[in-house]
Amino acid sequence: MATNRTFTMIKPDAVADGNIGGILKMIEEAGFKIIAMKYTRLTTDLAGKFYEVHKERPFYGELVEYMSSGPIVAAILEKDNAVEDFRTLIGATNPAEAAEGTIRKIYAKSIGENAVHGSDSDENAEIEGNFHFSQYERF
Ligand code: RTP
Ligand code: MG
Repeated sequence: MATNRTFTMIKPDAVADGNIGGILKMIEEAGFKIIAMKYTRLTTDLAGKFYEVHKERPFYGELVEYMSSGPIVAAILEKDNAVEDFRTLIGATNPAEAAEGTIRKIYAKSIGENAVHGSDSDENAEIEGNFHFSQYERF
């Protein structure tokens, strides 16, 4: 059974471009409730750890550099069927392939600088939320 929480980051490109408000508005209008949120910055070590699953991929170095290049907004979101519905809301990894009206279609620049992260499974949503937030930071 799908649990009802997912984890997101508004990535450095979207923060730098002034799109925090626009993206949060789309997230709230889609019915997600914010359970935890912080404005923070990943060190290269933390970004490397967060995306460790991609360690062997050719884009890993670039990804770590990009994700630590500036501040991000990290959040835990709640909604029925959260993981799947959030992936639908953000659209395909490559904005050129993202559906109309999705966050990446509107805000992403490229397959690398693609504005937002969304967990890909309930298990990873839990791991990723725990990576950024203690129990005392959830409401
Ligand atoms: P995310 O984990 O950030 O939500 O993205 P995703 O599931 O849609 O894509 P994933 O395959 O998990 O890739 C993680 C992030 O790596 C960067 N990437 N760059 N240059 C490339 O070919 C490439 N491919 C992926 C993107 O920032 C992607 O979101
Ligand atoms: Mg992913």
